[in-house]
Amino acid sequence: MPGVLNANDPANIEAAAQRLAAGSLVGMPTETVYGLAADAGNASAVQRIFDAKGRPSDHPLIVHIAPLDSNDLQAWRAAVASFASEVPEFALALMRAFWPGPLTLILPRRPDMAAVAAGGQNSVGLRCPSHPAAQALLRAARAKGVMGVAAPSANRFGRVSPTTAAHVADEFAALSEGELLILDGGPCPVGIESTIVDCSRGAPVLLRPGMVTPAHIEAACGLLLRERDEQAPRASGTLASHYAPRAAVRLMPAQQLQAALDMLGKDARNIAVYASQAVKSPQALPQRRRPDEAAACAQELFAVLRELDATGVRLIWVETPPEGAEWDGVRDRLVRAAA
Ligand code: TXA
Ligand code: MG
Repeated sequence: MPGVLNANDPANIEAAAQRLAAGSLVGMPTETVYGLAADAGNASAVQRIFDAKGRPSDHPLIVHIAPLDSNDLQAWRAAVASFASEVPEFALALMRAFWPGPLTLILPRRPDMAAVAAGGQNSVGLRCPSHPAAQALLRAARAKGVMGVAAPSANRFGRVSPTTAAHVADEFAALSEGELLILDGGPCPVGIESTIVDCSRGAPVLLRPGMVTPAHIEAACGLLLRERDEQAPRASGTLASHYAPRAAVRLMPAQQLQAALDMLGKDARNIAVYASQAVKSPQALPQRRRPDEAAACAQELFAVLRELDATGVRLIWVETPPEGAEWDGVRDRLVRAAA
């Protein structure tokens, strides 16, 4: 089993930073989801991430950088210059508006930096997380010469992302204490992965929706987001099927969901429900009520999918999320979980 240490103890942050500097893996809490972290500048450490996840090595990872002590644009420019060869003005505006926080920017990559982490692409994804434990870890690691930390979500490829240390320990139960140290920073407050904006091709392009919405992005940089096209870089979070529990997920409007249960009557077995209102069924079904606020739903979404999956049902019926950009991130994850 991997080791799990409390992220509130500075000695544990130091121990985790040492692991990163030594080329080993750390389960890192962030405000979005837990990451499986390694030194972005160490090719064999980064390869351990791909091996542990079972992720194809041409799928690029996000590089996380330590927060800066100031709001100073020149300082941000210098920090990202360790990895990015070019930083357009609109990307700087996005950094100033949303970093530290749940936004990843894709920038042209310095050819000499983080090639393995970037999956060989000529771009690199950068993010500065706001979670205090992630910030402490990134600072401590930087003090040991680790300039950036590559970290995909800490789940096996294609599976539900982890929002607690226990989820990470479950995903990587096969790794030993020496192979993986998990920092327990509590449940992630945002709950779904960062919004990703491609800033490497002249105008901002949304690659993955999240809790930073298109309206937020357009207001901050004064430009309109372009639609994704075939030239847009690949992102595994944008594969049609992803975030999948073992049970099959189906999305349905509330009335259709209740009508389907009514039709099944006593035969409604092996079904769990996640809906905005309690559903009626002669069978006692595992069910969770979906919060009315998008942020509250995002925060619990992956934990609820894991919990319902763990009841051993074959189907998870989920009420289609409401319209509106604040639900885009949740809707996106559910559509892919259902695909
Ligand atoms: O919130 C998050 O972003 C979390 C936490 C741990 O920071 N990380 C995360 O990583 O979600 P991951 O690997 O599960 O998803 C990262 C996405 C992938 O879809 C990847 O393809 C895309 O970012 N990505 C990373 N670098 C890229 C690049 N250079 N070009 C295009 N896409 C990139
Ligand atoms: Mg992921």
